[in-house]
Amino acid sequence: MRIVLVGPPGAGKGTQAALLAERLGIPHVSTGNLFRDNISQGTELGREVQQILREGGLVPDEVTIAMAADRLAQPDAGDGFLLDGFPRNIAQAQALDELLGEGGHKLTAVLDLEVPEDEVVKRIAGRRMCRKNSGHVFHVEYAPPAVPGVCDVCGGELYQRDDDQEDTVRHRLELYHQETEPIIGYYREQGLVVTIAALGPVPEITQRALAALPEADAA
Ligand code: AP5
Repeated sequence: MRIVLVGPPGAGKGTQAALLAERLGIPHVSTGNLFRDNISQGTELGREVQQILREGGLVPDEVTIAMAADRLAQPDAGDGFLLDGFPRNIAQAQALDELLGEGGHKLTAVLDLEVPEDEVVKRIAGRRMCRKNSGHVFHVEYAPPAVPGVCDVCGGELYQRDDDQEDTVRHRLELYHQETEPIIGYYREQGLVVTIAALGPVPEITQRALAALPEADAA
């Protein structure tokens, strides 16, 4: 299965992607996590994108597309993947179609997580992430760790992302509406979009997504 998750910042893409990827046996590929891992490891790419992420801007397409293509070329993504945060504009969506087409593949579905804006603001304000593993995500109220400030999974330190400050979140939401929302129309024309109501308990949303996926029963 080759799946794209789309939705505003804080919609729960990372949360659902981790659960769905495990259930479906495919890797969770998050461009945001890849950038954050590069930043924490101090790589050249990390230094190049650090300021952009801090300000909530979009990393230039050529950098993002090259990084995503490189990740999708890894053996574990050969039979499928769940993309989170990519593509984020029409140019990236076209590049992904091209990349998949070269291997004779196409997307299975695009899961559009629908959440009201006041809810995403609350989710982002309380989000805490693990420094050791950016895939481990908590919320001070909705998904609190057993010990405040400590990751339940690996014991890493929990922190608040630089780009989760109120002004930056507003900017990220604007960019989402301007740049990313149009890809939903692009994929709708290809008959790929499945809209999921993403309010309510996390496991229920995962079940809704699994039920809506074309081949989920077989996976
Ligand atoms: P990225 O990491 O992709 O950020 P985002 O798209 O803004 O999404 P978020 O990570 O903020 O939210 P999410 O939907 O994953 O929500 P989560 O599951 O954490 O990108 C970061 C930056 O990298 C970008 O701003 C850009 O600079 C750069 N970048 C990345 N990709 C790029 C690209 N393709 N092109 C250019 N630049 C790119 O959940 C949020 C919170 O809610 C958590 O605390 C969670 O515990 C809680 N929660 C989740 N589900 C529920 C629920 N059902 N009920 C209650 N709480 C919930």
